Amino acid sequence: MENIKLNITYLNNFIENNEISKLQDKINKANNHINKKTGKGNDFLGWADLPKNIDEELLQDIKTTAKNLIEKSEIIVVIGIGGSYLGAKAIIDALSNPFNSLNPQKGNPYIVYAGNSLSEDYHNDLLKTLDKYDYSVIVISKSGTTTEPAIAFRLIKQHIYKKYGQKEAISRIVAITDKERGALKTIANNDNFKTFIIPDDVGGRYSVLTPVGLIPIACAGFNIDELINGAKKCSLDYSDNADLKSNIIAQYAVIRNLLYNKGKKIEILASFNPKLTFFIEWWKQLYGESEGKENKGIFPAGLIFTTDLHSLGQYMQEGERTIFETIISIRNIKQSIIIPSDTDNIDGLNYLSGKNIDFVNKKAELGTIMAHVEGNVPNIKIELPNLNEYYLGQLIYFFERACALSGYLINVNPFDQPGVEAYKKNMFKLLKE
Ligand code: PA5
Repeated sequence: MENIKLNITYLNNFIENNEISKLQDKINKANNHINKKTGKGNDFLGWADLPKNIDEELLQDIKTTAKNLIEKSEIIVVIGIGGSYLGAKAIIDALSNPFNSLNPQKGNPYIVYAGNSLSEDYHNDLLKTLDKYDYSVIVISKSGTTTEPAIAFRLIKQHIYKKYGQKEAISRIVAITDKERGALKTIANNDNFKTFIIPDDVGGRYSVLTPVGLIPIACAGFNIDELINGAKKCSLDYSDNADLKSNIIAQYAVIRNLLYNKGKKIEILASFNPKLTFFIEWWKQLYGESEGKENKGIFPAGLIFTTDLHSLGQYMQEGERTIFETIISIRNIKQSIIIPSDTDNIDGLNYLSGKNIDFVNKKAELGTIMAHVEGNVPNIKIELPNLNEYYLGQLIYFFERACALSGYLINVNPFDQPGVEAYKKNMFKLLKE
């Protein structure tokens, strides 16, 4: 097995080597804040050692629970918002055949999501669909009081109790929440749901390697051991020191910081594989909530190429020069589709016949990087040998740790999100009027 790689060769025009090495002391300090728990938000560092200290009994319980739900469900509804669903959806979408949704079956259920918006339309469509399929529910909320998932769970709980009767319904519900606080914990206790705990020292957006992510991912049929093994490898290789010559996590954090200080205020995380759309959404939440505070922080945005090259590609190439780009590149694909030859060749594509689609995609990737670098958009490339659980596990840990380091480099608490309260305060006031 290899490690994921950070390719910074396209940064030559933008950053000098000595600019990176000058930040060695600063990044050492940030790394010590994580290892010695001396930085801001130090009671939320549980994610850092999660993959190393994973509890085997818990893993077994997760697998058994997932197996029970899989066997009796054509659909599994994951209720949660923000960090309580994005990590699971990121991994499930990255590894799934999206067309499986056309034929959900017991033993191979389709995972759907609820409570991540207040859209009546969406939840109405979902409830109508749940009339027709056998389903189970995983409800996730660390606080146990978040409005969006609470409303969705109230609706779906009523639906599932009516559909199956209380006893069977209870066997189809799993709650993931705080060990003692919150309404969800009280409901779970009262109705005797199977319950998993979110550790106190792991915040929502860093929780994908707790039951929050692992149970839905296991229910989708993916290998959670490999996901954890990947994360563990990355944590063992890159936690002890932050040597900028060899530590790719420290390098990424420092480079982002340097680019930010050179006026590159927006980072686009992009991929040429649409299966990573929600991985990018997970990353956006992780970085947006961790860094964006005290009027500071890189704005994290995401694009899927080549799709978005036909829309925002224009802006990337020639708009305001405040952007840098990080591309997640997958080296090998699982199966190849060869472009056939055509006797008439009216579309003029015969020069590509015999090549596979990914060959064209990789040329598009290289051509895009060259164009963007030329257009004054610095490029960082993260290379994964394959799109599988092991390398996604590495990537999760890579981004989580780099995010914490990045927050410490700009001297903010990477583990709180005070700004999220503002809309809630207004909403509750308006609701009570
Ligand atoms: O990262 C975070 O802490 C947030 O995005 C939360 O995950 C999100 O607000 C959901 O919170 P809860 O799990 O308490 O319902």
